[in-house]
Amino acid sequence: MRRLFLTFSCSVLSCVAHAHDVPAEKPPAVTFDSRISPVVSEAGMVVAQDAIAAEVGRDILAQGGNAVDAAVATGFALAVTHPQAGNLGGGGFMMVSLYDENGDGDVIAIDFREMAPASATRDMFLGEDGEVDRDVSWYSHQSAGVPGTVMGLLDALETYGTMDRKEVMAPAIRLADNGFPVSYSLSASFLEYKDTLANDPSSMDYFFKPDGELYVVGDVLKQKHLAGTLRRISSKGRVGFYGGKTADLIVAEMADGGGLITHNDLENYETVIREPVSGNYRGYEVYSMPPPSSGGIHIVQMLGVLEGYDLRSDGHNSAAYLHKLIEVMRRAYADRSKHLGDPDFYDVPVKELTGEAYAKKLREDIDLKKASRSSDIAPATHFADEQPATTHYSVMDKWGNAVSVTYTLNFSYGSGHSVDGAGFLLNNEMDDFSSKPGVPNYYGLIGAEANAIEPRKRPLSSMSPTIVRNKDGLNVLVTGSIGGSTIITQTLQVILNVVEFDMNVQAAVQAPRMHHQWLPDLVFVEPGINIDTVRILESMGHSISREDDGAVTRNINGRANSIAWDGLYFYGAADGRDPKGAAKGN
Ligand code: GLY
Repeated sequence: MRRLFLTFSCSVLSCVAHAHDVPAEKPPAVTFDSRISPVVSEAGMVVAQDAIAAEVGRDILAQGGNAVDAAVATGFALAVTHPQAGNLGGGGFMMVSLYDENGDGDVIAIDFREMAPASATRDMFLGEDGEVDRDVSWYSHQSAGVPGTVMGLLDALETYGTMDRKEVMAPAIRLADNGFPVSYSLSASFLEYKDTLANDPSSMDYFFKPDGELYVVGDVLKQKHLAGTLRRISSKGRVGFYGGKTADLIVAEMADGGGLITHNDLENYETVIREPVSGNYRGYEVYSMPPPSSGGIHIVQMLGVLEGYDLRSDGHNSAAYLHKLIEVMRRAYADRSKHLGDPDFYDVPVKELTGEAYAKKLREDIDLKKASRSSDIAPATHFADEQPATTHYSVMDKWGNAVSVTYTLNFSYGSGHSVDGAGFLLNNEMDDFSSKPGVPNYYGLIGAEANAIEPRKRPLSSMSPTIVRNKDGLNVLVTGSIGGSTIITQTLQVILNVVEFDMNVQAAVQAPRMHHQWLPDLVFVEPGINIDTVRILESMGHSISREDDGAVTRNINGRANSIAWDGLYFYGAADGRDPKGAAKGN
């Protein structure tokens, strides 16, 4: 029998002892710095990239709401307090695991990814020279897909929640109306993106002070137009966004800026309930997001290959361990470029990619002593700096129900254009399509036919909200991350840190991570991975991304806000890579 899932030694914040069986053949667990402690609670937990929004969700739990009620309230609150990625004008994915009175219940995936407008065309981002015009695919109104967030949150609430729409939306409306104090992180983000936002008169109105100055720490940001839109959604439901005044404002904004979204596109937007991709890893069932996300498939695929190795004996973040991760990631992202797209348009070979036979084949292909090369395809030259452009949050209620949500505008603040009069930013998710086969998108990701632009299609995503259950069916880990193309590999490493290396969830989230995505053929490592280890990897033939002065200083920029549950206590871990995040328990 395996050890009870998560165990914790005494720490400065908590001292929680649980009996557990440890199999004789299992090497001792890595003791990662036990001073890094999660927030502990007995009655539910919300972990989000913004403390105010996490408190909103926690309060909903305290009022008796379930995890879905709290997730929906947190989602609407983030649209106010975390405007760089919390949104009404974008889309995302939600994984939901609810138990019935017998303690049973499936995990389901809610897809509220943006859809291409009906008039979108395959070559819409190609200039006269036949090359992708980045200004158009990144920063124009044409880069906006039809937003899915509002439909997704409302559908989740109606189907799986217990509270009234007005109750769960009230905090967001209050925050938009009365304002909230700008944090250090938000003011730094406004400063970083001031040029993007200043390009659009409405964004200038919404995110700069009336005198044109930047908001700084402690200033109160009020968003009256956004409050109006939230109020229309609260009182009319879907029609408050996809019809009526809000829809008129979106369509007028499109007419003004040359965008494609019409009333028809808004009326026809729909969320889809999908079956998660799942796979077993060392006795734990991992449920993650299916296409149009690539995350679930590649997490399960990579775990399938890695399960054939004795990673624990290699040791966490040793060269032998990281070499295997790199080689597995290289192969997964090569598959992503060819086989992944919207399953409603393209037959994605989910079973083949995640099956045991293919995992074995990939494992046989990996040389344990030497790096392979990705150079059979012309190397990409572009790998943009990662932006904290998406947001991930995790929720558990006192019954152990779990919700894992990742949603986004794509870039921080999307295209930078706001809907005038409606107070929210537009996504630029159309750039997640493959605008031209073989040409990398913003994240350096290559795509092909499977992810070509088509009307009403959903662009391929890397967002990977994930729920892990133990053999007794307990939701023992709720996780996911932000970070564009790196979301998949960062989520994978949190799962491995917890399941394989027995780290407490906070240590698992804090541990330095690495990333490889096939092309460019470069390994990105976070500070904290030992430089001797980096040198061993280089001697094996891996190309490590280094700064001009040779330092390995790349921050991969994930925010893997996660919760673990051992059946008694909830352990909330906000990713310390953003000081604005928080774990809030009751
Ligand atoms: N926009 C990033 C993603 O969905 O993967």
